[in-house]
Amino acid sequence: MDKSEILARLAQDKPLFHYMSEDEVRRAAPAGYTLGVGEVCFGVGPKVLRWIAEHLTGDMIMFETGAGLTTVLFATLAQHHYCCTFKSLETDKIRDYLERIGVPPEKVTFILGSTDDTLPRLEIGKILDFAYVDGCHGYPFPALDWHYIDKSQNRRPARDGQCGAPPGPRTLRVPGGE
Ligand SMILES: C[S@@+](CC[C@H](N)C(=O)[O-])C[C@H]1O[C@@H](n2cnc3c(N)ncnc32)[C@H](O)[C@@H]1O
Repeated sequence: MDKSEILARLAQDKPLFHYMSEDEVRRAAPAGYTLGVGEVCFGVGPKVLRWIAEHLTGDMIMFETGAGLTTVLFATLAQHHYCCTFKSLETDKIRDYLERIGVPPEKVTFILGSTDDTLPRLEIGKILDFAYVDGCHGYPFPALDWHYIDKSQNRRPARDGQCGAPPGPRTLRVPGGE
């Protein structure tokens, strides 16, 4: 599947990889989020997905914190993708979806657990070409995530300006510190 095919497929299918429990809904309310219990998509919007796709090539090793639409995109376009998230519900759904669209699920290594626990123990060497931080949004997670991932960056370090935050709006932000 090439870049335009996978972007079109995600836009058409609109898969719901995320889930809000009763407790998460309750914790999100004081921050102004009115959400229901159940499946939901906290994924980035089509412009961000397109930006990412335009910057990737099939020889790259990729990495992300958080999981969702971006995981499918990375898995489809990468040589290999590493994805850190703490919900097995998400990884199960993403694996199933990859199989359904004909992308070998083995192209993704899921690292399950909270990134403050998993990333300091990460031992993959300096192999990463592209990293995307979108796990827990609460301070200091994004900075910590980047600190540990940056140690494994290979050809395209964060500082060279190529891996900065993509432009365009997010569709939703995960409330409650996620
Ligand atoms: C905004 S969503 C990611 C959206 C995804 N990039 C997409 O386009 O669909 C945030 C993700 O971070 C994960 N997450 C939240 N807190 C985390 C933590 N402490 N460690 C690892 N993953 C976490 C959530 O389970 C969720 O997959």
